[in-house]
Amino acid sequence: MKSKPKVRLKSKAKAKPLAKPSPKIVAKKTAVKKAKGLRATAAAPRFPAIQAILNRLVAGRSVARMQAAHGDPTFGWVTLAQLKGVVVRPNGPGTEPSYPLIDPSLVGNGKGAQTNLVIALANSTGVDFNGQMPLNGPYAAKADIQTIIDWINAGMPA
Ligand code: HEM
Repeated sequence: MKSKPKVRLKSKAKAKPLAKPSPKIVAKKTAVKKAKGLRATAAAPRFPAIQAILNRLVAGRSVARMQAAHGDPTFGWVTLAQLKGVVVRPNGPGTEPSYPLIDPSLVGNGKGAQTNLVIALANSTGVDFNGQMPLNGPYAAKADIQTIIDWINAGMPA
């Protein structure tokens, strides 16, 4: 009988910290929540990151040969404007079919994976069976493809 109040006291003492967590615990919980939401809330990639990925993919390739192969003498991404203007013409300049690398109607609306740039890099048969790019590889890693998709979906920030 004497031990009963002791037990009650103990449970009350335990209940207190549960009702009001210490600032340290609150901070830790917030940090965990933030970490979990990192992917959704991370800052969108910007053009220099995309430029670096594309440059790495074609390291050692001749720019002149790439421009000829794609039927677009402006094929490249030295600037964002240049990349935006690329239209690939596999059969040569002025011929059809033609494929804009990044169709503006697919930018900023969750459709980045449908752009020819992404299809060319990610799909094993490429755009309209022109082959996966860069020709003969090495091909882009999944994480790089996702970065490009995220960038297009974010509106292609400079
Ligand atoms: C609409 C998108 C694209 C299409 C339809 C396309 C199509 C082609 C075609 C038809 C060739 C020539 C293949 C041959 O000679 O047998 C080629 C070559 C090549 N493409 Fe693409 N391509 C596209 C995008 C890209 C992109 C985004 C890259 C790089 C990031 C790339 C990198 C290359 C390279 C490195 C070559 C080899 C050039 C050489 O002869 O040295 N292509 N592409």
